[in-house]
Amino acid sequence: MKTELHPISHQGRNHQERLNSPSSPPALEAREIYKSFRDRKQEVRVLNGLSLTVQPGQFVSIIGPSGSGKSTLFHIIGGLTAPDGGSIHMSGTDVTGQKGRIAYMPQQPALFPWRTVLDNVLLPRELAGMSREQALTEAHEWIERAGLTGFEQAYPHTLSGGMQQRTAFLRAMMSPQEVMCLDEPFSALDALTRSDMQRWLLDLWEEHRRSVLMITHHIEEALLMSDTVYVLSSRPAQVLQQIEVPFPRPRREKIVSDPEFLALKSKISGMMREEMRK
Ligand SMILES: Nc1ncnc2c1ncn2[C@@H]1O[C@H](COP(=O)(O)OP(=O)(O)OP(=O)(O)O)[C@@H](O)[C@H]1O
Ligand SMILES: [Mg+2]
Repeated sequence: MKTELHPISHQGRNHQERLNSPSSPPALEAREIYKSFRDRKQEVRVLNGLSLTVQPGQFVSIIGPSGSGKSTLFHIIGGLTAPDGGSIHMSGTDVTGQKGRIAYMPQQPALFPWRTVLDNVLLPRELAGMSREQALTEAHEWIERAGLTGFEQAYPHTLSGGMQQRTAFLRAMMSPQEVMCLDEPFSALDALTRSDMQRWLLDLWEEHRRSVLMITHHIEEALLMSDTVYVLSSRPAQVLQQIEVPFPRPRREKIVSDPEFLALKSKISGMMREEMRK
């Protein structure tokens, strides 16, 4: 099924035009981000001068040990937490501390409990001042794709964790901002549903090329979907390695058995194992 993506498809075209322009600034840039938290009397450094870049229309993943500071980085990008040092730039503008600039799917689904599935999914369009009628057809198609048909009028507390996660994913997809930040979007799903949702996101992304930054613990998922993978150290997080993923697009599942794919996968898992031993 072909999904219409207004107004995102429209943005996707602008996007493609900008991609063709050699002078386009990065869609998103984190520059030398530092962050510490106070834990009782101790100061715990979480981010240690972390920098990363998402070019317009790029799919970028972040992999790093649990507790290394990945979600904290997203809070800083989303303007929910202030960094101690460094800055966030979008399309060449310093947006440090500004909210509402990204389509954001947090690690915890954070749905509005008083809104139904459908109304949670429609919220970003409402906030953007678009007509409910226009957004309804698209929302229904996406609800179907996410396997949530029949639950449109259900409230979040009556859903399973995986269903809440899929609803939060749809809400991020319905957000009109060009940069999407997805914090472990498929972590609560069983393997089959996860692979369906990955395929769907990959198809949509390959068609429309929004700029995506995704946190995942799933190395295969990161390599299948991304142009670039940032491997982070344990806390305090910094970039251990930036890996450019060489496989052509559109990508098919069979690349996961390609020797080059397997070699990259074992390289990353080796790095992660070593980090976790530290
Ligand atoms: N508001 C806060 N106050 C104090 N400490 C915090 C706060 N937010 C995060 N931390 C600490 O910062 C560290 C990094 O947390 P964060 O949630 O960013 O890790 P993560 O890499 O996303 O981990 P996971 O992969 O398990 O989701 C943890 O030690 C956490 O306890
Ligand atoms: Mg996290």
